[in-house]
Amino acid sequence: MMMAKTMKKTFVLGFFSLTALVAAGTAAAADVKAGEAKVKAVCQACHGVDGNSQNADYPKLGGQYPDYLAKALRDYKSGARKNPIMAAFAGTLSTADIENLAAYYAAQPAVVVTTH
Ligand code: HEC
Repeated sequence: MMMAKTMKKTFVLGFFSLTALVAAGTAAAADVKAGEAKVKAVCQACHGVDGNSQNADYPKLGGQYPDYLAKALRDYKSGARKNPIMAAFAGTLSTADIENLAAYYAAQPAVVVTTH
């Protein structure tokens, strides 16, 4: 009887740990909606809401590979890629912000323009 009770307890505990792990995995996945909110608050002034600014000074981000976008943001933040404007904006971003922003812009339409 004692044994069975202990085993049941262990099983229940194990189940809850597994549930917590799954929840943590979900939280780590990119949140496109949160990325969109951040873009509307900060990035759209230069890059546009869909990442396809009409101003040639601002690189197009719409449809870019998410890992490329995330790496660019990490590099501006660390100083590995130098640009005073983006260093200031990337410097305030958390790792989650970067993943969310990259996922959002990557999900926008890509517009390729040849100007020369
Ligand atoms: C004041 C204007 C401005 C704002 C606001 C701004 N950016 Fe930028 N962004 C730039 C400029 C200019 C560059 C090009 C810098 C360079 O030459 O490396 C750039 C480059 C980038 C790049 C690299 C693109 C590439 O093709 O390599 C990414 C990614 C990026 N910005 C994302 C963002 C995100 C995300 C935000 C919002 C958190 C943001 N930017 C806000 C002006 C801005």
